Amino acid sequence: MSILKHKKAIITGGGRGLGKATAIAFAKEGIDVAITGRTESVLKETVSELEALGVQAIYSVFDVGNYDEVKSHIKSIVDMLGGVDILVNNAGIAAIGSFNEMEVSVWSEIIQTNVMGMYYVTKEVLPYLIDKNEGDIINVSSTAGLNGNPNISAYCASKFAVIGMSESLMKEVRKNNIRVNTLTPSTIESDMTIELGMLDKGSENTLQPEDFAELIVAGLKLPRRAMLKSAALWSTNP
Ligand SMILES: NC(=O)c1ccc[n+]([C@@H]2O[C@H](COP(=O)([O-])OP(=O)(O)OC[C@H]3O[C@@H](n4cnc5c(N)ncnc54)[C@H](OP(=O)(O)O)[C@@H]3O)[C@@H](O)[C@H]2O)c1
Repeated sequence: MSILKHKKAIITGGGRGLGKATAIAFAKEGIDVAITGRTESVLKETVSELEALGVQAIYSVFDVGNYDEVKSHIKSIVDMLGGVDILVNNAGIAAIGSFNEMEVSVWSEIIQTNVMGMYYVTKEVLPYLIDKNEGDIINVSSTAGLNGNPNISAYCASKFAVIGMSESLMKEVRKNNIRVNTLTPSTIESDMTIELGMLDKGSENTLQPEDFAELIVAGLKLPRRAMLKSAALWSTNP
């Protein structure tokens, strides 16, 4: 039996892409899962797939960038799940455009979602983990959080910020037996990377969401005395 069985997880942006693959990998380990996002139809479909794997699965529709929504929805998720052990801060958006051409509103929305959204959700989940003196938080940055690149300044700024926030939190709550893991994956096939024209669907050797999910599960399975502080997932042969 998996050591993760009966744990309870919240995955933001869990209806599709990397978040969905993580939710499915968690369900296969017997973890009860709450997935969140803004699109109810997508979340509903994914919840049915998760339930078919024999775990409790629920969804919650809210914008991670809206603190009032985050506060009320996280509370009801934790009430429904009966607790929380694992948070995967995965929801995120990206856009391509030159520094001057990108609208201020687009730049701000990327920061609001990727940085403030992660901060809001973590702020609401953290007290439950501190109370239990145990927990895991997985924060999704990107290789774009390690190097700046042309025409993607807002996304890079947001993912650099995620690393700073995540590492600071890690140093703050390690003493509470809370492991904070910052991931910096390279390009993985998903709606995001296909819509941005970063790769074609079904390309051989392209990283898949399931690869990302497997890394998260491996980190969670480490003995509690050990933690994956950060990890970069790269394709072997791009
Ligand atoms: N794919 C890659 O190559 C790659 C590489 C490195 C890092 N990442 C990061 O991995 C994460 C997942 O990316 P992905 O490739 O799976 O992207 P995706 O397929 O576009 O999925 C993004 C997810 O985030 C949710 N989301 C977006 N904005 C939201 C908001 N304001 N409130 C709540 N949920 C929101 C979306 O749901 P709704 O649209 O229904 O809200 C969706 O479930 C992102 O943080 C991304 O930056 C991806």
